[in-house]
Amino acid sequence: MEFISHNPANLQETVAKSQGATSDQIVEALARAKEAQRRWAAIPAPARGRVIANVGRLVEKNKESLSKLVTKEMGKVFKEALGEVQEVIDTCDFFLGEGRRLYGQTVPSEMNNKNLFTFRMPVGNVLVITAGNFPAAVPSWYIVPALLAGNSVVWKPSEFTPAVANALTAIFHAGGVPKDLLITVVADGVTTFDALEKGLAKGLINKVGFTGSTEVGRKIGAKTGEYIQSACLELGGKNPMVVMPDANLDLVLDGALFAGFGTAGQRCTSLGTLWLHESIYDSFLAKYSNTVSEAKIGDPFQDVLYGPMISEKYLNNHLKHLEMIQSHHQVSGSSGIGRITKSNPRNSFVGDPDNGVFAHPTIVAGIKEEDELYRTETFGPLVTVGKFKTLDEAIALSNGHGYGLSSAIYTNDPGNVWRFREGISAGMVSINNSTSGAEAHLPFGGNGRSGNGSRQSGIWVLDQFTRWQSMNWDWSNKLQKAQMDTVELEHNPNFTL
Ligand code: UN1
Repeated sequence: MEFISHNPANLQETVAKSQGATSDQIVEALARAKEAQRRWAAIPAPARGRVIANVGRLVEKNKESLSKLVTKEMGKVFKEALGEVQEVIDTCDFFLGEGRRLYGQTVPSEMNNKNLFTFRMPVGNVLVITAGNFPAAVPSWYIVPALLAGNSVVWKPSEFTPAVANALTAIFHAGGVPKDLLITVVADGVTTFDALEKGLAKGLINKVGFTGSTEVGRKIGAKTGEYIQSACLELGGKNPMVVMPDANLDLVLDGALFAGFGTAGQRCTSLGTLWLHESIYDSFLAKYSNTVSEAKIGDPFQDVLYGPMISEKYLNNHLKHLEMIQSHHQVSGSSGIGRITKSNPRNSFVGDPDNGVFAHPTIVAGIKEEDELYRTETFGPLVTVGKFKTLDEAIALSNGHGYGLSSAIYTNDPGNVWRFREGISAGMVSINNSTSGAEAHLPFGGNGRSGNGSRQSGIWVLDQFTRWQSMNWDWSNKLQKAQMDTVELEHNPNFTL
């Protein structure tokens, strides 16, 4: 099967044609990578860190061209694409030094002449499956630490972004990563799942890293669970942004614009529902609607709020969500809803909408807890808006749908900040900042429908790609029994003053 990726801003333009792998070919790649892992793990970690350093430098050297490819193949605006590629560089910067740390511990023993230690051991062979919205940054969150820690990787990128995947893979190889240690395979979901089942059954997969929908994450989690593995799952979100009456509303406007419509709303951290305090609801909603209505949309190489959606599949998904709009909702944000075309035009559109997969921004106000849109991740340029009276109510509404990835509160009252932080179930909390745009060295991940508690990025991701090995070394030349042959000091339990 051949996969053809198109420029979503200009569907006439083919970006890449790639040969799809069969599930048996993926299994064969898993076997090759697994074989290469042993040799890689024997290389001292600081030397592996040097390879990550090389990769980071090469990404930096090719930043412009890789970012262009990201915009061309996936459609995010060029400035965001530069940011995405920077995130790969940041990840390499962080982990190149980890090669000289990968710290274990020395731990005191209960007994004399005995020493205790911990070591981080690579898990083995990792199958990484990623989505099209962050075709470079998110894969690097898995691949870089996995390799650094001594693992091999088979990477299945989104079938919508094979050109970015192949370019990034070539950079890894040029940086010194052996070809069999990182193998990239292009395939659809069904083929990949088949390969996952076979690979697990043959003992060729030791860890799965997956970024994508909650629905697929649940299947992968269940399948890996059968093999007593827990996958690293980074799933969907319905990220709340709570606006208190004392908030700086200009700041909220910028934040809600970027969080709601940056990347055409196709970030797992995109704004889901904007929760406005009743005292500012009408005035802020009017301001937000106006600003969104006037924002430029279109050619992602121009100065626009957002460009096309990743592909028609993503657009169709967005159209399906528009059907969830009910009569008690108020819709605003554009001169139409759905696909932007010459016959369904958008004011302030840059370029020719008929060439690409563009969607009107849509604000759906009057959202209620019982609405389907309240509990549905929309992953497109659609923001729901609701009203609350008290912070406790806003927290309950923010948690009630069971997602728990990112969240934000805008307030100038520290009491609100701490109450929100304590009450919110999301893995990530922004204060006076957008729900999207996390820095690459803080733990990234969610709870509930957003993930199984695994975290990526920074030092925390190492727990995904390593296993703790503990060692005790008794050099007393006799059998000292733990819990029995221990040192007990005399004391007086009846002592009172
Ligand atoms: C994603 O959409 O899967 O925090 C990741 C952000 C980006 C990463 C998003 N740094 O919005």
